[in-house]
Amino acid sequence: MTAAHVENRNGNFPGKGIGEAVGVAILGKGTVGSEVLRLIGEFSDNLEHRIGGRIEVRGVAVSDVTKHAGAPGLEGIELTDDARSLISRDDIDIVVELIGGIDYPRELVLQALKNGKSVVTANKALVAAHADELSTAANEAGVDLYYEAAVAAAIPVVGMLRRSLAGDQVQRISGIVNGTTNFILDAMTTTGMGYDEALAEATRLGYAEADPTADVEGHDAASKAAILASMGFHTRVNFADVYCEGITKITADDINAATESGHTIKLLAICERLVDAAGNTTGVNARVHPTLVPNEHPLASVDKSYNAIFVEAEAAGRLMFYGNGAGGAPTASAVLGDLVGAARNKVHGGRAPADNPYADYPVVDFGEVTSRYHINMTVNDRVGVLSDLARTFAEAGVSLSAVRQEESGKEAHLIVVTHSASEKNLRGIVDKLSEHEDVRAVNSVIRLDA
Ligand code: HSE
Repeated sequence: MTAAHVENRNGNFPGKGIGEAVGVAILGKGTVGSEVLRLIGEFSDNLEHRIGGRIEVRGVAVSDVTKHAGAPGLEGIELTDDARSLISRDDIDIVVELIGGIDYPRELVLQALKNGKSVVTANKALVAAHADELSTAANEAGVDLYYEAAVAAAIPVVGMLRRSLAGDQVQRISGIVNGTTNFILDAMTTTGMGYDEALAEATRLGYAEADPTADVEGHDAASKAAILASMGFHTRVNFADVYCEGITKITADDINAATESGHTIKLLAICERLVDAAGNTTGVNARVHPTLVPNEHPLASVDKSYNAIFVEAEAAGRLMFYGNGAGGAPTASAVLGDLVGAARNKVHGGRAPADNPYADYPVVDFGEVTSRYHINMTVNDRVGVLSDLARTFAEAGVSLSAVRQEESGKEAHLIVVTHSASEKNLRGIVDKLSEHEDVRAVNSVIRLDA
């Protein structure tokens, strides 16, 4: 632990005093910003009791003032396109960043923190890429940095890891943290439709954005995995450390094979603390990939666009948190929870628990991570092919737990399920299988890893 951590924990952070109003600036008035404004208006009296002082929204920054002028919720509130000036004002105590993107909000959040404002942000990409820099700026200024809404919106998973499990040893976190991809995979599973059709349905219903890349390629989930791993293991894992594979290659065939073997395919964010034989932590890993989840596992039944986070901790055991991981009101609920926390500290004094990555574990390369695999191949249907291919696994020291075969004319569909193997080992096997004269195609490799 560095001296800075101790110094900032023990520092003296006086409050404004009970009954004093707390000045808030909101940056961004999209779906979430509008809901935050609406809820602050609606819950105002209750919030005052809970905080000990009134929340006063003293400015809202947007890129185009004319577009928002006169909109409901903005009565008596200054609307500006000059966010930099707004967050420098003396009457602003807390800045709520709801802009999205990375570079511009990073600049604003750093400026706000340096100016002594506490910051509440819903921006997962920003936190996953720059948590160290932001948290250092918050520590130096003695203010709060809250980001509950950055992971799974209304599900209070950041606070749960930061506060409720602060005394425990978290071993593993596996979560469905992206609603769009869960909707698509669930639609494929329940209706038999293919990926493109399910994506079109998600777009039609407003789950998928016009450009769905960040969701379907797993980038959104990877940002959340970085935050969960950092929080859960008291270390620093950045977006760039997270192995990421999306759902775009999942076919109706993969879904059928999963169903037949008693599994459901989910896009999981998996954060794992790796230990040696003596039980000492050797590092951590965070990854996002389609995963075969046994139907009896609680994550398998998380349907539609819901999110769920499954946590395994040494003393607490297994916990699951389930709910709405996206949407204006659920995200605004998390923002408001953070706002109340930051405002209480402004009124009464003190600081929230800050990020404390004291454990400083190395991030273990994905190649060293082990799981079980489900390999779907099309092979020539000739005598001896099965034992030939089984030898490829045996030579690499990987044992098989099941083999299923379906014949169709001169070719056969083969599904091989392995016991635990490292990614590096598995990749070597898949390369050899792909070059084998009797293997027409390795159709898919999906991990069994819930
Ligand atoms: N687009 C995300 C989802 C929500 O589909 O879950 C914001 O992270």
